[in-house]
Amino acid sequence: MTSTRPTAAFYDNPASTDEDDKRLFSGIALRNGPPVIAALAPYFANRTGSVLEIGAGTGQHAGAFSLAFPHLDWWPSDPVPDHRASITDWARFLKAPGLGPLDLDAGADWAEDPQITAISPLAAILSMNVIHISPMDVAKGIIRGAGKALAPDGLLFFYGPFFVSEDPISDGNREFDARLRARDPRWGIRDTDDIGKLGQDAGLNEMSIQPMPANNQLVVLRKSA
Ligand SMILES: C[S@@+](CC[C@H](N)C(=O)[O-])C[C@H]1O[C@@H](n2cnc3c(N)ncnc32)[C@H](O)[C@@H]1O
Repeated sequence: MTSTRPTAAFYDNPASTDEDDKRLFSGIALRNGPPVIAALAPYFANRTGSVLEIGAGTGQHAGAFSLAFPHLDWWPSDPVPDHRASITDWARFLKAPGLGPLDLDAGADWAEDPQITAISPLAAILSMNVIHISPMDVAKGIIRGAGKALAPDGLLFFYGPFFVSEDPISDGNREFDARLRARDPRWGIRDTDDIGKLGQDAGLNEMSIQPMPANNQLVVLRKSA
C-alpha cells in the first residue's frame, strides 16, 4: 500500500516571530473552533475518558477543546513533525493540558499501535478537515480503527465539507471538490452514504449529520453499545 502520510506541512503561517515558538496559525481553525465546541458539548456532557483527535494540524483546536472539556483527556495526533511541534506550543501558550501529541498516520493500522492501545478504549475520536484532503484510505483507516479502539457506545466525529445525499450539491462544494481533485486526484469531498456504509462494516451502526456554518457538516458515528 502506498503511504497515506502527507509529505509536507499544511501551513506556512507562523503564529509568532519568536524562533523558539513553533506555533502555526490557521484562520479557519480559529473561526470554526467555537461552533464545533458548541456542537460537541451535548455529546460530551456525560462522557469521561480519552478523546483522540486525528489530524490535529496546528493544535489550536486541541488547546481550546481540552480547556473546553476539562473532564476529558484530549489526545491530539498528527503525522507531520512541524504540526506536532505546533500542537505542543499551542498547549503551552494556552496553558492547556498538552497530552501527546501522538505521531499517527490514520491510513495505517493505528488502533494496534501501543501508544493507542495504552489509552484505549476511547470515549471518542474527532477528525476535522482531514478526510477530504487525504486519500480515501485515510477515511477508511479512521473508521476501521475507530471500530477497534472506541469503547462500546463510543463516538466518531468528522467535521468538514461532505456531499449529503438528500441535499442538493452547492456550487461552492462542487468547485471546491474539483480544486481538491486537481491538486491530488486521491483527494475530494466525501459522500456521507459512503461514510455510513464504512461505519456499518466497522460496527459503528448509527450515523447522524448536523449542518454547520460555511457549508460544513458534523458527521457523528456511534459504535454499538
Ligand atoms: C487541513 S488540515 C486540518 C487540521 C485541523 N484538524 C484543523 O481542522 O485545523 C489536515 C490535517 O490532516 C493531517 N493528515 C493528512 N494526512 C493524514 C493521515 N494520513 N493521518 C493523519 N492525519 C493526516 C495533516 O497533517 C493536517 O494536519
